[in-house]
Amino acid sequence: MLNDKTIQIIKSTVPVLEVHGTAITKRFYEMLFTNHPELLHIFNHANQKQGRQQTALANAVYAAAQHIDNLGAIIPVVKQIGHKHRSLGIKAEHYPIVGQTLLAAIKDVLGDAATDEIIQAWAEAYGVIADAFIGVEAEMYDQAEKQEGGWSGFRPFQVVKKVRESDVITSFYLAPQDGGRIASFLPGQYISVKLDIPGETYTHIRQYSLSDAPGKPYYRISVKREDTLKDRPAGKVSVYLHEKVEEHDVLMISAPAGDFTLDQQDTRPVTLISGGVGLTPMVSMLKTLAATNPQRQVTFIHAAQNGDVHALRGEVEELAAEHPQISAYWCYDRPTEQDKADQAYHKEGYVDLQWLQSIVAVKDSSYYFCGPVPFMRTVNSLLKEWGVPAADIHYEFFGPAGSLENEPAAV
Ligand SMILES: Cc1cc2nc3c(=O)[nH]c(=O)nc-3n(C[C@H](O)[C@H](O)[C@H](O)COP(=O)(O)OP(=O)(O)OC[C@H]3O[C@@H](n4cnc5c(N)ncnc54)[C@H](O)[C@@H]3O)c2cc1C
Ligand code: HEM
Repeated sequence: MLNDKTIQIIKSTVPVLEVHGTAITKRFYEMLFTNHPELLHIFNHANQKQGRQQTALANAVYAAAQHIDNLGAIIPVVKQIGHKHRSLGIKAEHYPIVGQTLLAAIKDVLGDAATDEIIQAWAEAYGVIADAFIGVEAEMYDQAEKQEGGWSGFRPFQVVKKVRESDVITSFYLAPQDGGRIASFLPGQYISVKLDIPGETYTHIRQYSLSDAPGKPYYRISVKREDTLKDRPAGKVSVYLHEKVEEHDVLMISAPAGDFTLDQQDTRPVTLISGGVGLTPMVSMLKTLAATNPQRQVTFIHAAQNGDVHALRGEVEELAAEHPQISAYWCYDRPTEQDKADQAYHKEGYVDLQWLQSIVAVKDSSYYFCGPVPFMRTVNSLLKEWGVPAADIHYEFFGPAGSLENEPAAV
């Protein structure tokens, strides 16, 4: 364990590092990828370009350092990150590389202010933090491999069915090429897909939530194509999947992971709220609830621009028709003329508190949501405003996890 002096140095320097956080992590990634270009096969380049991953890693290291004398307090966060690391294939041997590079970046940015004593203290603290991650992830690797139908690393899966679900979302049904069993999963979990795109120097890994219920001989993912928008380039993996990957093609995927999962012990009503492609984990939860828990009341709320981009609508409507305990509501912010003529939605505009209160059967329920970050901020602040306890609010980011707190609500 660390001695009191080291702990005191760490705690007193965290605020200094936080001030220089962006500069340090920017330098960290420059050095990391210069000295270890092989890591460019693992990191998400789009997240790098937009600075999302930088913030996530810096915040996690400082949060860990602040709890350096009681790392047990941050185990849930370590587990959440550990799921992502395990799904990407991050190994114990990667940790010293990150540690050494981080220390070099701190020294580089802070100059003489980073004394030998401070650097030594951070080296020790990083070692303790890294050990916590390595321990948690070792258990996850073990569990992923030893479970029935499990495997380690990436396994080849064949696309057995490709289904267009809307103008922008397409589903891929994936069955193992070796014909073996597949690991079960908890509704809400995701897999990582690793792609070798012709002409690209590096492999690209992306996460996709499983959009069907567990217990099938395949996994289903439903992918939104991220087309070029103003100055933003087209998404590498999603567009390749849509345009180039066909039935019989093979994708490399890692075993299901993630801690955004439906609590199936809870017997209270549940409200599932999604925006856009954020509906994938919600549909998996909904299908599981319909199949396993007919007593549990479910309110399924989906926000989309309009009916043209609304995926999996038929599937959800079928479940709602078959199960009286399930109600489904659609909120379109830009309904088409056809949507208007068909009265295809329940609310025009954005999700607001008055509407939520009018459709959620019982306030004392658990709430799960997923969607674009501004949508999630809005839903989070609406639930808080309504007085829903934080323990009943669960959400997933389709990118590096961040905070929804203290942010201006969109809409
Ligand atoms: C847990 C989890 C679950 C997910 N589940 C799903 C799911 O079920 N369905 C789904 O469709 N997606 C899901 N995602 C998102 C998915 O992993 C990908 O992020 C998404 O498909 C985009 O990947 P891409 O390779 O197509 O785009 P990328 O190439 O990664 O680009 C992403 C975005 O960044 C922008 N960008 C790239 N480079 C730059 C640049 N230089 N400057 C500015 N902008 C840039 C692109 O324009 C694009 O909009 C999930 C993500 C996570 C973390
Ligand atoms: C103690 C050390 C580490 C900490 C605190 C840390 C923290 C984080 C955090 C907070 C995220 C974002 C999680 C999310 O998506 O929600 C993340 C993702 C990631 N981490 Fe780590 N990490 C550490 C070590 C490592 C190591 C050793 C590697 C391998 C070189 C690594 C590679 C990655 C990658 C590739 C991602 C996904 C990022 C992306 O989207 O590109 N991390 N890590």
